[in-house]
Amino acid sequence: MKIGLAADHGGYELKNQILIWLREAGFAVVDMGAHTYDGADDYPDLVHPLAEAVSAGQFDRGIAVCGSGVGAAIVANKSKGVRAALITETYSARQGVEHDDMNLMCLGGRVIGPELARELVLAFANATFSGEERHNRRLEKLKKLENQPK
Ligand code: RB5
Repeated sequence: MKIGLAADHGGYELKNQILIWLREAGFAVVDMGAHTYDGADDYPDLVHPLAEAVSAGQFDRGIAVCGSGVGAAIVANKSKGVRAALITETYSARQGVEHDDMNLMCLGGRVIGPELARELVLAFANATFSGEERHNRRLEKLKKLENQPK
């Protein structure tokens, strides 16, 4: 399992902490930036490259952090094949993977505390897609929507 991380200034500290937690838990993690704190950076510039890397299969999963997690989710879902969601509780961190094959989790660095964030990250990283027929059927419908001509 290879996991990519990205954050703007609103998620910078939490992203650095997530890197440590995931490595401690034995995951292969790549930090896509920001690599230094820049209070004027913009989340699309950080999160879009991560989402494109997930889309291209360079990472199995991604975690993106901005201040609220909202902007990160909006930009991440613009990349084909990315299924991103803003997550605030552990049930959805796990079930979003098991049912919806969520491959990019977004967190709000200004919204959640470190202990909850750690639980969310580990629940997401340790979850696997169930592969059940009803969930595959729904994913196929999503793929069709993504591929339909405008
Ligand atoms: C940055 O100040 C903040 O607006 C951004 O991180 C995020 O919360 C957007 O959704």
